[in-house]
Amino acid sequence: MDDLAQLESRLVERIGAAADLAALEAVRVEALGKKGLVTQLMKTLGALAPDERRAAGQALNQIKDALAGAIEARKDALLEAELEARLAEERIDVSLPARPAPLGRLHPIGHTIEELVAIFGEMGFSVVDGPHIEDDFHNFTALNIPPDHPARQEHDTFYLPADETAGEVAAAGRNRERRVLRTHTSPVQIRSMQAGQPPFRIIVPGRTFRADHDATHSPMFHQVEGLVVDRTTHMGHLKGTLTAFCRAFFGVEDLPLRFRPSYFPFTEPSAEVDIGCSRQGDQLVIGAGSDWLEILGCGMVHPKVLANCGIDPNEFQGYAFGMGIERIAMLKYGMPDLRPFFDSDIRWLRHYGFLPFEMPSMVRGL
Ligand code: PHE
Repeated sequence: MDDLAQLESRLVERIGAAADLAALEAVRVEALGKKGLVTQLMKTLGALAPDERRAAGQALNQIKDALAGAIEARKDALLEAELEARLAEERIDVSLPARPAPLGRLHPIGHTIEELVAIFGEMGFSVVDGPHIEDDFHNFTALNIPPDHPARQEHDTFYLPADETAGEVAAAGRNRERRVLRTHTSPVQIRSMQAGQPPFRIIVPGRTFRADHDATHSPMFHQVEGLVVDRTTHMGHLKGTLTAFCRAFFGVEDLPLRFRPSYFPFTEPSAEVDIGCSRQGDQLVIGAGSDWLEILGCGMVHPKVLANCGIDPNEFQGYAFGMGIERIAMLKYGMPDLRPFFDSDIRWLRHYGFLPFEMPSMVRGL
C-alpha cells in the first residue's frame, strides 16, 4: 500500500507540474491510459484472493479518481492561464487617440462651425442653410432696410450684373429682383420664416460677402445667424442663450457678458454683446478682467420683419443674433491675423488646423 500512496503522490506532483496541455495529456496516458501504470495494476487484481482484491480494488479506484480529479483541475488552470495570456497579448487600449499623421488637418472655420452646432444643437436649435446669391428683398427690404437706408452703404454690397428682366424691374423703380452676394446671414431668417410656421429655433452658419479687404476684413467671411420665434420668447431668453453659448464656446464658466444698446433695422430693441477680457502684455485673455471685446449683434425680431414674413407680431415674438465666425475663432484660438484663413498655406493649416477625429461634442468636450 505504501507503494500505491507513493505512486499516487508522484503522479499528482507530475500532473501539477505539467507545463501545458500536451504534457498533461502525456501524464494522463502514462497513468490512466490503456497501458498506463494504474491500468496495469488494475489488471493484476484478478490474481488476488477475493478479500485482498476488494481492498486493493478500492484503493486503486480511489487513486484513479484522485488522478482524474487532479488532471481536470490542472486542465482548467492551464486553459485559464492560456486565456489570460491571450487577453493580455491582444489587449487594445480604445482610449488611445487615433494615429493622426497621414490625414491632414481640418480648417479652423469648419471646426468652429462644428463647435457652434454642438453647443446650439444641444440647446435644441437646428441648422439651416440659404443661398449665397440673394435678391435685394431677402438681403435688405424684408429685414426692414428700405432702398435709401444708410445700412445699405455700410454693407459694401457686391451687386451682381443686372440681367434683362432685373433691368426692367429696376427701371420700373423696384429693386426687389436685384441680385447681390448676401452681406449677412440674416436673409435666411426671412427664408425660414416664409417657408414654415412658428415656432422657429434655428442657427445658420455660412458664407457672407462684403467689398472690404484689409487686415481685419476679408471680402468673403463667415457668420452664424440665430433665430428663435415663439409666443412667449423674450429678451431674457436671448440673454440666457447667448451667455450659455459664450461660456461653453470659450470654456470660461464665469465669463461676464455685457449687453450694450445698439441699433439694427431688423431688431428692436437691439444690442451688441461684449465679453470680458484682459490684456497681459501683448496677450489677450478671455474671462473676467478690466476690458471688453465686442463679439456679436442681437435683438428682438422687429415686428415689421415678422409681418414681412406673414407672421402676426401680436401673436409671436422672437430674438435673433449674428456673429462673425472668423472673429470668434481668432479670439478663442489666439490667431492674430484674419488673412491667412484663406491663403491655403499648409504651414498655417498644420499649426491652427484640427485633427479630423476630434469632433466637438458637448459630452466629450469641444
Ligand atoms: N446681420 C447683422 C450683421 O451682419 C448681425 C445681426 C443679426 C444683428 C441678427 C442682430 C440680429 O451685422
